[in-house]
Amino acid sequence: MNTIHKTLIPILIAAASIASARAADDILIADFEGENYGAWKVEGEAFGPGPARGTLKGQMRVDGFAGKGLVNSFFKGDDTVGALTSAEFRIERKFVNFLIGGGKNAEKLRMELLIGGAVVRTATGPNDRPGGAETLAAESWDVAEFAGKMAVIHIVDEAKGGWGHISVDHIAQSDRKAAVLLADAKREFKVEKRYLNLPIKNGAAKQKVTTFVDGRVEVRNDIELADGAPDWWAPMDVSAWRGKTVTLQVDKLREDSTGLSAIEQSDTFPGAENLYREPLRGQFHFSSQRGWNNDPNGMVFFNGEYHLFYQHNPYGWPWGNMHWGHAVSPDMVHWQELGDKLAPDESGPMFSGSAVVDWKNTSGFGKDGKPPLVLLYTAAGHPTVQSLAYSTDGRTFTKLATNPVLKEITDGNRDPKVIWHEPTKKWVMTLYVETKEKQHTIHFFTSPNLRDWTLASVVNGGIDGDKFLFECPDFFELPVDGDASKSKWVLTAADSNYAVGTFDGTTFTPEKTHLRGHRGRGFYAAQTFSDLPGRRVQIGWFQTETRGMPFNQSMTIPLELKLTATPDGPRMTWTPVKELASLRTKSHRFDVPTLAPDAANPFAAVSAELVEVNAEFEPGDAEVSFTVRGATIRYDAKKQELAVNDHRVPAPLRDGKQRITIFCDRTGLEVFASDGLTYVPMPFVPKADDLALGVQAKGGAAKFSALQVHELKSAWGAQ
Ligand code: FRU
Repeated sequence: MNTIHKTLIPILIAAASIASARAADDILIADFEGENYGAWKVEGEAFGPGPARGTLKGQMRVDGFAGKGLVNSFFKGDDTVGALTSAEFRIERKFVNFLIGGGKNAEKLRMELLIGGAVVRTATGPNDRPGGAETLAAESWDVAEFAGKMAVIHIVDEAKGGWGHISVDHIAQSDRKAAVLLADAKREFKVEKRYLNLPIKNGAAKQKVTTFVDGRVEVRNDIELADGAPDWWAPMDVSAWRGKTVTLQVDKLREDSTGLSAIEQSDTFPGAENLYREPLRGQFHFSSQRGWNNDPNGMVFFNGEYHLFYQHNPYGWPWGNMHWGHAVSPDMVHWQELGDKLAPDESGPMFSGSAVVDWKNTSGFGKDGKPPLVLLYTAAGHPTVQSLAYSTDGRTFTKLATNPVLKEITDGNRDPKVIWHEPTKKWVMTLYVETKEKQHTIHFFTSPNLRDWTLASVVNGGIDGDKFLFECPDFFELPVDGDASKSKWVLTAADSNYAVGTFDGTTFTPEKTHLRGHRGRGFYAAQTFSDLPGRRVQIGWFQTETRGMPFNQSMTIPLELKLTATPDGPRMTWTPVKELASLRTKSHRFDVPTLAPDAANPFAAVSAELVEVNAEFEPGDAEVSFTVRGATIRYDAKKQELAVNDHRVPAPLRDGKQRITIFCDRTGLEVFASDGLTYVPMPFVPKADDLALGVQAKGGAAKFSALQVHELKSAWGAQ
């Protein structure tokens, strides 16, 4: 279901950087990828029987070498000695480039270039004291003056004891000097403006970028910093540190990189003049201004505002660096982004979670009679724990100094969803816990004060012998057909499948598990608003990939959830919230009592980029098709099946009628049928110039009791 492979990216990056190390015009002298040293003469024991495959026994982790093999004279430890001598070769390029690491000892640990028996160039490793790192770094010898001469390379380990070894890899002749990596390159900024704009190159090797504020580490991010021209600029909001000194430190920066020097302080960021008007910007689907979003988090109605937090990578197009982004809205349709509220810290990246208003101030975080807004989130470090942050104004948030509030159960525990359970007057947390045996479970905890949690019960996701209950739980009570006396509890999972049952404050007893949630694609990790009286409104992560944009992914439109009785038992329905009607600019109503197969297209005169279509019809024997900007939405009455661009799903008739609503934005469709029993989200990018709409019947005449097209406006305009 989760089609985005968050872990694939680093592998691609590693492959890309190795490829670029082998420029076409280079002449390889040695890559040490073979089983033995080949033509190299080996003396002594230190270099072992052949190139090492990375780290040797008893050694700190070796990295920074190319491929799988390298020269590593730590064979049998530091005390072994020896030498390696290459075959003779002719100098045919301007530089000899190589990677070198290990001990620093110009006399006893050396790599040297000999011409006519004389040493003309020499290099050694970087470490001359305990600690340090086994990382190889690029170096270069300028050998232009020896053009045409015959040369030999000699690698010597005559050192014993601490750092008594040398490592070397990938020796090549080149006309380009190897870019030397500067360790812990820094740049200081006296903060005067809102942002530091960071240059980002999608797919570049990730740099560890540490942000210091007045000398103290504030946050560490892995950033695809552009060495040259960036694909886009990521604004780092530093407004909280105005007047202070912010230092950015990059762990390994190419000496010719403009990654740090190009950073500018500004109150805006490049591209902001076109914000929300970008070609692939959903116009009524929330997406972050810059960077990646995944799950909605901490959805809550507080002080008359809707709050949406979300998994945010502010500094990358793909997943990573999980922060909680934050946006607010008066109506769930028009959003204002407020910046990141939870940043990664020493307890790890900030994974998904929820928010509640603590009306009775059980937590004690309230001030002056004002109830606090409390966030519960997963700090996904080692260990992975559940933590808390609070706010009284809905703008600034403080992480609890005594975090975590719940210790690690297994390293696969995450995504706390907290609710107030009025009958038992307790907080209830549902937490996804993947057990050591790889079982998917939801653990229920209770608390009097949001800080102290006690295990109450466990629901095992294997009830149906399948993998129901997968991460990001949500848990709420809904009346059946509006009748509160018949209400049921609903437990949803990240894939939107759900269980309906009863809950006594301790134990959830499902009547039926693994009911099908949404029927489309690219919908995941949905949550509902807490503290919203009388309604249950859900927003999901809408996996709309927006390649070429400085942002990626989005959220679905807000969906009202209800339970409705069906012959099989109560089932959930999804319908667009009524607030979306505020986007309508022009409504076209069509009076088409019957639509015959040869009828003219009723929508022929209408064209729109952003559109909502509503229809209520009795299909009879007809197949009814809607065309919306190149997408087809076809209803087959005989099979009681809906096809959205050939993705077929069940859609039962209701009282002999079908009611369909279609929303079309720049990045996706959302189709509702069968009074909300069938919800089909579908990432889809219409062609920019295809604004045509249509409706037709095939194989019979359909009777329409309602047929409307609403042209919609962007939600991003005047806010
Ligand atoms: C779901 C998820 C959550 C986790 C978050 C991390 O998409 O994997 O389980 O908390 O994303 O970003």
